Amino acid sequence: MIIPEDLKYQIKKNFKKGKVVSLTGAGISAESGIPTFRGKGGLWEKYDPEIFANTEGLISVLRNNPRSLANFITEFYSTLLSSQPNPAHLSLVELEKMGILSSIITQNIDNLHQESGSQNVIELHGNSFRIICMGCQKKACLNKERIKELLALIKKSWSSYISLLRIISRYFPKCKCGKRFRIDIVLFGELLPQDELSRAYKELDNCHTLLIIGSSLVVYPAAELPLYAKQRGARLIEINSQPSALSELCDYRIIGRASEIVPEVLNILKG
Ligand code: OAD
Ligand code: ZN
Repeated sequence: MIIPEDLKYQIKKNFKKGKVVSLTGAGISAESGIPTFRGKGGLWEKYDPEIFANTEGLISVLRNNPRSLANFITEFYSTLLSSQPNPAHLSLVELEKMGILSSIITQNIDNLHQESGSQNVIELHGNSFRIICMGCQKKACLNKERIKELLALIKKSWSSYISLLRIISRYFPKCKCGKRFRIDIVLFGELLPQDELSRAYKELDNCHTLLIIGSSLVVYPAAELPLYAKQRGARLIEINSQPSALSELCDYRIIGRASEIVPEVLNILKG
């Protein structure tokens, strides 16, 4: 048993119908084969986020080091394409079906909550499988088949700045309004989608328990949400393989893998 008896009792007592919200980060998808951003072998260990998570940085790397951008796109999307929801994602689906979980506020851009079947997902940092027009903000899906084509084309015909630019332009076309589409994820220094952020705050206004899963809680404004919930009287439960920046703020901490612990929480509530 990973979860001690007294905490099991607290879970039974505190998980009120429709009053639980989950805040998730990269750790929930680690066991789906997606390395966390800041962990060993994570994306930000290999690629400097000041360059690869930044619009100006991406434009300059396209011009000055297109091979490195081609590698980045290929590695980023290959990992996402080969990932599958794990038991932690699936347990959250069950908790929503049982009427206990009212929403998931996620920092993840991997679409795994939606893919596993969760309905009420608030995406703070966007979604890698969507594009957005830089002019009118229209959104469109960039599905797995299109991404596979994009990666195959990069592999086959990439040779220079111009050819990479041509390939990218094909998958991030111009909108009817005249501006170009880009990937719909929040890069460093950009504002979060304000409609999603206000939905998140609204959820936390009604939340009795905030279940935080697999986030280092170092990226703001997402990391403000636990404090906001706590100030409104919510209990904070953290599931993480190691302490986060805000572990001290949490009422209960469960150290371990999300894919083992979230199903155990579900079993406690089912039993
Ligand atoms: P991080 O990579 O910063 O943190 C991942 C957390 O997951 C760490 O606290 C790990 O201890 C924990 N962890 C790792 N494996 C786990 C497992 N199997 N089970 C449970 N916990 C585990 O990821 P985030 O906190 O999500 O921004 O990062 C926040 C944002 O920073 C991301 O959304 C991303 C990044 O820059 C954008 O994409 C815009
Ligand atoms: Zn447009």
